Amino acid sequence: MTSNDVAGQGKAGFDHVYNRDDPRDYYQVLKPLSYEIPQHAHAVFAALLDARNSEPSGTTSVLDVCCSYGVNAALMRSELTLDDLYDRYGDAKLAGLSTQELADADRTFYSDRRRPDAPRMLGLDTADRAIDYACNVGLLDAGWAENLETSPPSPALAEAVSDVDLITITGGVGYVGERTFDQLLGVCQEDRTPWVAAFVLRMYPYDHIAEGLTQHGLVTEQLPDTTFPQRRFASDEEQSAALQGVRARGTDTHGKEEDGWYHCDLFLSRPEADVVNQPLPELIPIP
Ligand SMILES: C[S@@+](CC[C@H](N)C(=O)[O-])C[C@H]1O[C@@H](n2cnc3c(N)ncnc32)[C@H](O)[C@@H]1O
Repeated sequence: MTSNDVAGQGKAGFDHVYNRDDPRDYYQVLKPLSYEIPQHAHAVFAALLDARNSEPSGTTSVLDVCCSYGVNAALMRSELTLDDLYDRYGDAKLAGLSTQELADADRTFYSDRRRPDAPRMLGLDTADRAIDYACNVGLLDAGWAENLETSPPSPALAEAVSDVDLITITGGVGYVGERTFDQLLGVCQEDRTPWVAAFVLRMYPYDHIAEGLTQHGLVTEQLPDTTFPQRRFASDEEQSAALQGVRARGTDTHGKEEDGWYHCDLFLSRPEADVVNQPLPELIPIP
Protein backbone atom coordinates (compact mmCIF):
# COMPACT_ATOMS: atom_id res chain seq x y z
CA MET A 1 0.00 0.00 0.00
CA THR A 2 1.25 3.46 -0.82
CA SER A 3 -0.24 6.63 0.61
CA ASN A 4 -1.69 7.25 -2.89
CA ASP A 5 -3.89 4.16 -2.90
CA VAL A 6 -7.00 6.20 -2.04
CA ALA A 7 -6.28 8.77 -4.79
CA GLY A 8 -5.97 5.90 -7.28
CA GLN A 9 -9.39 4.43 -6.59
CA GLY A 10 -11.45 4.03 -9.76
CA LYS A 11 -8.43 3.64 -12.03
CA ALA A 12 -8.59 0.68 -14.41
CA GLY A 13 -6.17 -2.13 -13.57
CA PHE A 14 -3.87 -3.77 -16.08
CA ASP A 15 -2.19 -6.23 -13.74
CA HIS A 16 -3.08 -9.08 -16.10
CA VAL A 17 -0.59 -7.81 -18.72
CA TYR A 18 2.18 -6.57 -16.41
CA ASN A 19 3.82 -9.94 -15.93
CA ARG A 20 3.46 -12.00 -19.09
CA ASP A 21 6.32 -13.94 -20.66
CA ASP A 22 6.72 -11.27 -23.36
CA PRO A 23 5.39 -7.75 -24.04
CA ARG A 24 2.91 -8.42 -26.86
CA ASP A 25 -0.22 -8.26 -24.68
CA TYR A 26 1.06 -5.21 -22.81
CA TYR A 27 1.41 -3.14 -25.96
CA GLN A 28 -1.79 -4.50 -27.52
CA VAL A 29 -3.87 -3.59 -24.46
CA LEU A 30 -2.38 -0.11 -24.05
CA LYS A 31 -2.35 0.99 -27.70
CA PRO A 32 -6.16 1.40 -28.02
CA LEU A 33 -6.04 3.64 -24.94
CA SER A 34 -3.41 5.81 -26.64
CA TYR A 35 -0.98 5.23 -23.78
CA GLU A 36 1.70 7.73 -24.71
CA ILE A 37 3.46 8.97 -21.59
CA PRO A 38 6.74 7.11 -22.34
CA GLN A 39 7.05 9.06 -25.62
CA HIS A 40 6.51 12.43 -23.92
CA ALA A 41 8.83 11.41 -21.12
CA HIS A 42 11.49 10.41 -23.62
CA ALA A 43 11.99 14.01 -24.79
CA VAL A 44 12.55 15.04 -21.18
CA PHE A 45 14.76 12.09 -20.27
CA ALA A 46 16.90 12.73 -23.38
CA ALA A 47 17.45 16.34 -22.25
CA LEU A 48 18.34 15.17 -18.73
CA LEU A 49 20.72 12.55 -20.10
CA ASP A 50 22.42 15.26 -22.15
CA ALA A 51 22.80 17.39 -19.03
CA ARG A 52 24.18 14.51 -17.01
CA ASN A 53 26.41 13.35 -19.90
CA SER A 54 28.24 16.63 -19.83
CA GLU A 55 29.67 15.56 -16.50
CA PRO A 56 33.06 13.87 -16.69
CA SER A 57 31.92 10.61 -15.09
CA GLY A 58 31.74 8.48 -18.26
CA THR A 59 28.66 6.52 -19.34
CA THR A 60 25.44 7.75 -17.79
CA SER A 61 23.56 5.20 -15.68
CA VAL A 62 19.78 5.24 -15.40
CA LEU A 63 17.51 3.33 -13.05
CA ASP A 64 13.97 3.09 -14.44
CA VAL A 65 11.51 2.35 -11.61
CA CYS A 66 8.39 0.35 -12.59
CA CYS A 67 10.26 -0.38 -15.83
CA SER A 68 7.93 -3.15 -17.04
CA TYR A 69 9.26 -4.75 -20.27
CA GLY A 70 11.75 -1.91 -20.78
CA VAL A 71 9.70 0.63 -22.71
CA ASN A 72 11.62 3.67 -21.44
CA ALA A 73 14.90 1.82 -21.97
CA ALA A 74 13.97 1.07 -25.58
CA LEU A 75 13.30 4.75 -26.27
CA MET A 76 16.40 5.98 -24.41
CA ARG A 77 18.75 3.46 -26.02
CA SER A 78 17.63 3.80 -29.67
CA GLU A 79 15.89 6.11 -32.13
CA LEU A 80 12.75 3.98 -31.86
CA THR A 81 9.45 5.67 -31.01
CA LEU A 82 6.61 4.28 -28.94
CA ASP A 83 4.61 3.93 -32.18
CA ASP A 84 7.40 1.72 -33.54
CA LEU A 85 6.99 -0.52 -30.48
CA TYR A 86 3.19 -0.60 -30.86
CA ASP A 87 3.65 -1.56 -34.53
CA ARG A 88 6.17 -4.25 -33.70
CA TYR A 89 4.25 -5.97 -30.93
CA GLY A 90 0.98 -5.77 -32.90
CA ASP A 91 2.59 -7.11 -36.08
CA ALA A 92 0.73 -10.19 -37.37
CA LYS A 93 4.07 -11.62 -38.57
CA LEU A 94 5.31 -11.82 -34.97
CA ALA A 95 2.02 -13.06 -33.50
CA GLY A 96 2.81 -16.74 -34.14
CA LEU A 97 6.30 -16.67 -32.61
CA SER A 98 6.99 -18.40 -29.32
CA THR A 99 8.32 -16.18 -26.55
CA GLN A 100 11.81 -17.58 -27.15
CA GLU A 101 11.59 -16.86 -30.89
CA LEU A 102 10.34 -13.34 -30.22
CA ALA A 103 13.12 -12.75 -27.69
CA ASP A 104 15.73 -13.90 -30.21
CA ALA A 105 14.28 -11.57 -32.85
CA ASP A 106 14.03 -8.70 -30.35
CA ARG A 107 17.64 -9.10 -29.27
CA THR A 108 18.76 -8.45 -32.85
CA PHE A 109 16.12 -5.75 -33.41
CA TYR A 110 17.26 -3.69 -30.42
CA SER A 111 20.94 -4.34 -30.90
CA ASP A 112 20.76 -3.15 -34.55
CA ARG A 113 19.10 0.07 -33.45
CA ARG A 114 21.19 0.86 -30.40
CA ARG A 115 22.54 4.40 -30.19
CA PRO A 116 26.31 4.69 -29.76
CA ASP A 117 25.79 6.90 -26.71
CA ALA A 118 23.14 4.64 -25.13
CA PRO A 119 23.01 4.99 -21.35
CA ARG A 120 23.58 2.06 -19.02
CA MET A 121 20.04 0.95 -18.12
CA LEU A 122 18.95 -0.68 -14.90
CA GLY A 123 15.36 -1.61 -14.13
CA LEU A 124 13.21 -2.23 -11.08
CA ASP A 125 9.71 -3.73 -11.18
CA THR A 126 7.81 -6.32 -9.18
CA ALA A 127 7.01 -8.21 -12.40
CA ASP A 128 9.77 -10.82 -12.61
CA ARG A 129 8.88 -12.06 -16.09
CA ALA A 130 8.80 -8.54 -17.53
CA ILE A 131 12.21 -7.86 -15.99
CA ASP A 132 13.58 -11.16 -17.31
CA TYR A 133 12.35 -10.33 -20.81
CA ALA A 134 13.87 -6.85 -20.78
CA CYS A 135 17.22 -8.24 -19.61
CA ASN A 136 17.09 -11.17 -22.03
CA VAL A 137 16.66 -8.93 -25.10
CA GLY A 138 19.29 -6.43 -23.96
CA LEU A 139 17.04 -3.48 -23.11
CA LEU A 140 18.27 -3.59 -19.53
CA ASP A 141 21.86 -4.20 -18.48
CA ALA A 142 20.43 -5.52 -15.23
CA GLY A 143 17.04 -5.65 -13.57
CA TRP A 144 15.50 -6.59 -10.25
CA ALA A 145 12.04 -7.92 -9.43
CA GLU A 146 11.71 -6.44 -5.96
CA ASN A 147 9.07 -4.56 -3.99
CA LEU A 148 10.73 -1.76 -2.05
CA GLU A 149 7.37 -0.74 -0.58
CA THR A 150 7.53 -3.86 1.56
CA SER A 151 11.21 -4.93 1.74
CA PRO A 152 14.67 -3.39 1.73
CA PRO A 153 16.66 -3.63 -1.51
CA SER A 154 18.69 -6.79 -2.01
CA PRO A 155 22.48 -6.35 -1.71
CA ALA A 156 22.82 -6.71 -5.51
CA LEU A 157 20.25 -3.98 -6.19
CA ALA A 158 21.74 -1.71 -3.53
CA GLU A 159 25.22 -2.12 -4.99
CA ALA A 160 24.09 -1.47 -8.58
CA VAL A 161 21.99 1.58 -7.71
CA SER A 162 24.66 3.21 -5.59
CA ASP A 163 26.16 5.15 -8.50
CA VAL A 164 23.23 5.81 -10.84
CA ASP A 165 23.00 9.31 -12.35
CA LEU A 166 19.27 9.44 -13.05
CA ILE A 167 16.19 7.70 -11.66
CA THR A 168 13.16 7.77 -13.97
CA ILE A 169 9.54 6.72 -13.56
CA THR A 170 6.49 6.78 -15.85
CA GLY A 171 3.15 5.22 -14.95
CA GLY A 172 4.54 4.09 -11.61
CA VAL A 173 3.75 6.63 -8.88
CA GLY A 174 0.67 5.27 -7.15
CA TYR A 175 2.11 1.77 -7.33
CA VAL A 176 5.24 2.99 -5.59
CA GLY A 177 5.52 5.82 -3.09
CA GLU A 178 7.93 7.42 -0.67
CA ARG A 179 9.25 4.14 0.72
CA THR A 180 10.62 3.02 -2.63
CA PHE A 181 12.36 6.34 -3.27
CA ASP A 182 13.65 6.60 0.28
CA GLN A 183 15.19 3.15 0.07
CA LEU A 184 16.76 3.83 -3.32
CA LEU A 185 18.28 7.14 -2.25
CA GLY A 186 19.41 5.52 0.96
CA VAL A 187 21.82 3.26 -0.92
CA CYS A 188 23.22 5.96 -3.24
CA GLN A 189 26.73 7.26 -2.68
CA GLU A 190 26.64 10.58 -0.83
CA ASP A 191 28.89 12.32 -3.36
CA ARG A 192 26.90 11.02 -6.36
CA THR A 193 23.29 11.83 -5.59
CA PRO A 194 21.17 10.98 -8.65
CA TRP A 195 18.51 13.19 -10.18
CA VAL A 196 14.96 11.86 -9.95
CA ALA A 197 12.53 12.57 -12.82
CA ALA A 198 8.94 11.49 -12.20
CA PHE A 199 5.86 11.76 -14.41
CA VAL A 200 2.94 11.67 -12.01
CA LEU A 201 -0.80 11.50 -12.69
CA ARG A 202 -2.42 14.71 -11.47
CA MET A 203 -4.70 13.02 -8.93
CA TYR A 204 -1.64 11.81 -7.00
CA PRO A 205 0.06 14.21 -4.61
CA TYR A 206 3.85 14.10 -4.87
CA ASP A 207 4.55 16.08 -1.68
CA HIS A 208 5.34 13.09 0.50
CA ILE A 209 7.83 11.71 -2.04
CA ALA A 210 9.42 15.17 -2.47
CA GLU A 211 9.68 15.58 1.31
CA GLY A 212 11.40 12.22 1.56
CA LEU A 213 13.86 13.19 -1.18
CA THR A 214 14.69 16.38 0.76
CA GLN A 215 16.12 14.15 3.49
CA HIS A 216 18.59 12.87 0.86
CA GLY A 217 19.65 16.38 -0.22
CA LEU A 218 17.39 16.73 -3.25
CA VAL A 219 15.30 19.80 -4.07
CA THR A 220 12.14 19.03 -6.05
CA GLU A 221 10.73 21.34 -8.71
CA GLN A 222 7.59 20.90 -10.77
CA LEU A 223 7.76 21.93 -14.42
CA PRO A 224 5.41 24.93 -14.41
CA ASP A 225 2.42 25.47 -16.71
CA THR A 226 2.91 22.15 -18.49
CA THR A 227 1.22 18.78 -18.29
CA PHE A 228 1.77 15.65 -20.34
CA PRO A 229 -1.07 13.38 -21.58
CA GLN A 230 -0.71 9.83 -20.28
CA ARG A 231 -3.62 7.98 -21.91
CA ARG A 232 -7.33 8.10 -22.66
CA PHE A 233 -9.71 6.99 -19.95
CA ALA A 234 -10.80 3.37 -20.27
CA SER A 235 -14.39 4.16 -19.16
CA ASP A 236 -16.74 6.91 -18.01
CA GLU A 237 -16.30 5.61 -14.46
CA GLU A 238 -12.55 6.01 -14.69
CA GLN A 239 -12.96 9.57 -15.98
CA SER A 240 -15.39 10.48 -13.18
CA ALA A 241 -13.02 9.15 -10.54
CA ALA A 242 -10.07 11.01 -12.05
CA LEU A 243 -12.03 14.28 -12.35
CA GLN A 244 -13.02 13.97 -8.71
CA GLY A 245 -9.46 13.17 -7.64
CA VAL A 246 -7.83 15.99 -9.61
CA ARG A 247 -10.45 18.57 -8.59
CA ALA A 248 -10.12 17.52 -4.95
CA ARG A 249 -6.54 18.73 -5.20
CA GLY A 250 -7.76 22.13 -6.38
CA THR A 251 -6.53 21.58 -9.95
CA ASP A 252 -8.38 22.78 -13.04
CA THR A 253 -9.37 19.84 -15.28
CA HIS A 254 -10.51 21.97 -18.25
CA GLY A 255 -9.03 20.81 -21.57
CA LYS A 256 -7.31 17.89 -19.89
CA GLU A 257 -9.15 15.25 -17.83
CA GLU A 258 -12.44 16.84 -18.97
CA ASP A 259 -11.43 16.02 -22.56
CA GLY A 260 -10.97 12.34 -21.76
CA TRP A 261 -7.28 12.07 -20.91
CA TYR A 262 -5.21 11.38 -17.83
CA HIS A 263 -2.53 14.07 -17.56
CA CYS A 264 0.78 14.00 -15.70
CA ASP A 265 2.86 16.60 -13.92
CA LEU A 266 6.63 16.39 -14.18
CA PHE A 267 8.74 16.61 -11.03
CA LEU A 268 12.51 16.84 -11.11
CA SER A 269 14.57 16.45 -7.93
CA ARG A 270 18.23 17.50 -7.89
CA PRO A 271 20.93 18.69 -5.49
CA GLU A 272 20.51 22.40 -4.78
CA ALA A 273 23.72 23.38 -6.59
CA ASP A 274 22.39 21.78 -9.80
CA VAL A 275 19.07 23.59 -9.39
CA VAL A 276 20.93 26.90 -9.20
CA ASN A 277 23.39 26.15 -12.01
CA GLN A 278 20.90 24.70 -14.49
CA PRO A 279 17.46 26.35 -14.15
CA LEU A 280 14.63 23.97 -14.99
CA PRO A 281 13.17 25.97 -17.94
CA GLU A 282 16.58 25.95 -19.63
CA LEU A 283 17.01 22.23 -19.09
CA ILE A 284 13.70 20.87 -20.27
CA PRO A 285 12.05 21.41 -23.66
CA ILE A 286 8.52 22.74 -23.14
CA PRO A 287 6.21 20.83 -25.51
C1 LIG B 1 1.44 1.37 -15.63
S1 LIG B 1 2.79 0.24 -15.58
C2 LIG B 1 4.05 1.35 -16.15
C3 LIG B 1 5.11 0.66 -16.91
C4 LIG B 1 6.07 1.56 -17.69
N1 LIG B 1 6.85 2.39 -16.82
C5 LIG B 1 5.34 2.38 -18.71
O1 LIG B 1 5.25 3.60 -18.57
O2 LIG B 1 4.82 1.80 -19.68
C6 LIG B 1 3.12 0.04 -13.85
C7 LIG B 1 4.26 -0.91 -13.52
O3 LIG B 1 4.51 -0.82 -12.12
C8 LIG B 1 4.89 -2.12 -11.68
N2 LIG B 1 4.75 -2.17 -10.22
C9 LIG B 1 3.62 -2.27 -9.47
N3 LIG B 1 3.91 -2.24 -8.16
C10 LIG B 1 5.27 -2.09 -8.06
C11 LIG B 1 6.18 -1.97 -6.96
N4 LIG B 1 5.77 -2.01 -5.69
N5 LIG B 1 7.49 -1.82 -7.24
C12 LIG B 1 7.94 -1.78 -8.51
N6 LIG B 1 7.12 -1.90 -9.59
C13 LIG B 1 5.80 -2.05 -9.36
C14 LIG B 1 3.97 -3.05 -12.45
O4 LIG B 1 4.43 -4.37 -12.48
C15 LIG B 1 3.99 -2.37 -13.83
O5 LIG B 1 5.02 -2.89 -14.62
